[in-house]
Amino acid sequence: MTTYNIAIDGPAGAGKSTIARRVAKELGFIYVDTGAMYRAMALYFLREGISRDNEKAIEAACSRIDISIRYHQGAQQVLLNGEDVSGLIRTEEVSRMTSAVSVYAPVRQKLLELQRQLARTENVIMDGRDIGTCVLPRAQTKIYLTAGSHVRALRRFKELEEKGQMCNLEEIEHDIIERDYRDMHRDIAPLKRAEDAVLIDSSNMTIDQVVDAIMETARTQGLKDDR
Ligand code: DC
Repeated sequence: MTTYNIAIDGPAGAGKSTIARRVAKELGFIYVDTGAMYRAMALYFLREGISRDNEKAIEAACSRIDISIRYHQGAQQVLLNGEDVSGLIRTEEVSRMTSAVSVYAPVRQKLLELQRQLARTENVIMDGRDIGTCVLPRAQTKIYLTAGSHVRALRRFKELEEKGQMCNLEEIEHDIIERDYRDMHRDIAPLKRAEDAVLIDSSNMTIDQVVDAIMETARTQGLKDDR
């Protein structure tokens, strides 16, 4: 069977995972959150006390890490050496570490084949930074989802506030801008819009509008509803 692959790339906080989860549900696709895989690796380095600048130690540690994913009631769980770490990888500390260590080739190499393998065997909607450009260059539908940094910071601020966590809007925006810069300017697989990706700026769009725009794009690009 030829699988249908949808790639969604874009900067932090553009709404990729919320949107991708919704589209996956509508289409009966598997949602693959590649950021969660990078985050699980970053968690390992943090636990081991490895500095983000110590490339040698990070490279050596990669051989001790096994990342896999499984699905529980439709939700992706990410396993770090067999432990479900899904609930531990969303902190600001892990976000910063992840962006810093995802510049290293051994870290990226570790996850690339796993991501490609999933897309070969399942209809997937996969989100990340390099999906359309590097992981799945032949994805049938590619989306570059973005929004202004202030809008993205505000969304994150509200999310944290709802969880009852203290936070500072300026700090969040500063963190987002710093992460974007690093993700866009690294040597290997930087975040950029693939030439054939459809650009969606969600700054003034609702979640429903973005979901509809992606489904419409996929249909015009050959996705059949009876898959
Ligand atoms: O999507 P996210 O915020 O969970 O991603 C966290 C970090 O992981 C992001 O700052 C860069 C890195 N990442 C990456 O380099 N490549 C991907 N395909 C996904 C994430």
